[in-house]
Amino acid sequence: MGKKVIITGVPGVGKTTVVNEALKKLKEEGIEYQSINFGTFMFDIAVQENIVTDRDQMRSLDRAVQKKLQQRAGQAIARIKGNVLIDTHASVKTPKGYMAGLPEWVLREIMPDIIVLVETDDDQILMRRMTDESRSRDKEGAKAIAEHQQFNRSIAAAYAMLTGCTIKIVTNADFLLDRAGQDLADVLR
Ligand code: AP5
Repeated sequence: MGKKVIITGVPGVGKTTVVNEALKKLKEEGIEYQSINFGTFMFDIAVQENIVTDRDQMRSLDRAVQKKLQQRAGQAIARIKGNVLIDTHASVKTPKGYMAGLPEWVLREIMPDIIVLVETDDDQILMRRMTDESRSRDKEGAKAIAEHQQFNRSIAAAYAMLTGCTIKIVTNADFLLDRAGQDLADVLR
């Protein structure tokens, strides 16, 4: 049986960058993980059904539609065998407030061994969002980013209570990507 590890972090914290760094290190040791993106599963379903054309539009969809997409993505991901690393969000900031990224019905399908929270200073995240032109990042200040990171720690504690998984915090600070990649690789070994 493989390991199921969920990796989360507020948009722009650099979780995809850290995942790539960790997987590169593990590959050198012959350890393989299938890396998948929860948002991509949701987006592919939403595109097939003509609901959105851009992945950043999904956060603003009606909550019931987001829940349906979430559920279908969770079911598809639960069927994947072997070591899996799932890139997603502990919570999603919607116009109506925070939505659980891993509600009970998704968590019980996936039953993760570990949930990783990638974090860094709020102002570093702000700068990364401002300089990343490939995406339509939400425009918000450092205080709002701090609140979102704080909320993610709280909701992760609830996920641990539901599943018995562990919660690992990995810091992805500016100029210290190698350290973050190493910390994540240690969790995945
Ligand atoms: P998703 O694709 O996961 O959106 P995202 O959070 O924007 O994720 P990214 O992977 O783009 O962000 P990242 O922080 O990992 O960025 P990157 O590595 O590129 O999800 C899309 C959508 O799907 C969500 O908005 C939501 O609607 C939906 N969704 C997903 N999961 C869901 C769920 N469970 N429930 C409901 N909806 C869900 O890095 C960002 C920048 O930082 C880059 O420019 C990079 O070069 C830079 N950077 C990274 N590390 C460093 C470093 N150490 N130093 C300096 N710069 C760095």
